[in-house]
Amino acid sequence: MEPVSRIVKEHVPNYLSNLPVPNSIGGWFRLGVKDWLSMIPLFAVVGGASYATYRLFRPKSPVNPDIKKTDAKVVDSFNIEDLGDKAAFCRCWRSSKFPYCDGAHGKYNKTHGDNVGPLIINKKK
Ligand code: FES
Repeated sequence: MEPVSRIVKEHVPNYLSNLPVPNSIGGWFRLGVKDWLSMIPLFAVVGGASYATYRLFRPKSPVNPDIKKTDAKVVDSFNIEDLGDKAAFCRCWRSSKFPYCDGAHGKYNKTHGDNVGPLIINKKK
């Protein structure tokens, strides 16, 4: 623990107190290359901590908003002989006739700037 304690109690405060942080906004524009290079570790730590915090607390948006949410996994199975000449399956998870497409992807695409569409299976003629 001695090396960690020494880094936290001695090296970090020394590093921070020696940073060339200017007293005015204009001072940032007068910093030299060496000054900016000396601040890279600080920016890396602050950037890394910010990104880790964002990853931890970012809003989750599930692919499936409300279909069979009590099931552990949504699985639908069909016999290909029973599909008829054509079947359109939803891939946007917004259809009220899921797993079939009901055209809800159009509204979803418009509001979310997306381009998802159904999987269409046609019988060979
Ligand atoms: Fe979901 Fe058409 S409604 S792909």
